Amino acid sequence: MWGCVGLAQAQTSIQERLKAIQADPVALKAAVDAGRKASFFCANCHGEEGISKQGDVPNLAGQNPAYLLEQIRKFGSGERKDAFMQGLIKVLKDEERLQIALFYAANPVPPVRTDATLAARGKVLFDKLCVRCHGEQARGHETYPRLAGQKAAYLQTTIIRYRDGTGIRNNQLMSIATSTLKNEDVQAVAAYLAQLP
Ligand code: HEC
Ligand code: HEC
Repeated sequence: MWGCVGLAQAQTSIQERLKAIQADPVALKAAVDAGRKASFFCANCHGEEGISKQGDVPNLAGQNPAYLLEQIRKFGSGERKDAFMQGLIKVLKDEERLQIALFYAANPVPPVRTDATLAARGKVLFDKLCVRCHGEQARGHETYPRLAGQKAAYLQTTIIRYRDGTGIRNNQLMSIATSTLKNEDVQAVAAYLAQLP
């Protein structure tokens, strides 16, 4: 019980530190530069600038830093499951987590081409079911992740994990939002999101 309170407080403070650094241009530049170095190992999978070359590895470029920190925390606590990421994240200190999140967030993410018919169908679904949290352009804000330009394969797998209650990703809002999607719908939404700038 006390342990949980302690964890919650530690998390509040890392998110507050993030806001403080973002508000200070000099500190922000220093953090981004340090993040480039601290992320050298991550580059093996997520790419030098956070643009991954594998469909099942997410881009981190352009991602909301508050969301990145929250996912790092979730891997650490086991709320989000991925054997490799859970082990790796434990060795990162708070300062490195902040630097890495700010470094990736500062990089642009190039959209890719996807099937136009599929993407058009996906837009209709996105505008109906997802836009109120992820935003008009799917760029997210605060705790909502950016989805624009994300890898289509990763998006599909992730959406299905929330929908099917696999326990790999746990979020009540996402389980509800995706509950009516058929597999073809998931494919269409992913095709729409991956090509967004
Ligand atoms: C061996 C490959 C590999 C390495 C190295 C790696 N990752 Fe990952 N990472 C993954 C995979 C695969 C996922 C997606 C897991 C899933 O399916 O949920 C992931 C997911 C993530 C996510 C969640 C992104 C999102 O959109 O939700 C973050 C944040 C992350 N990694 C950060 C890091 C950091 C920071 C490092 C370096 C300290 C790192 N990763 C190194 C493979 C890797
Ligand atoms: C009520 C708010 C809400 C709605 C509506 C919503 N989402 Fe989300 N979404 C979230 C939150 C919060 C998260 C982060 C959850 C977590 O920590 O795992 C998230 C995470 C995601 C992720 C994971 C991103 C990543 O980088 O791993 C995907 C993909 C996603 N949402 C797609 C969708 C799609 C597609 C829809 C519409 C069918 C949708 N969301 C509707 C709130 C919402």
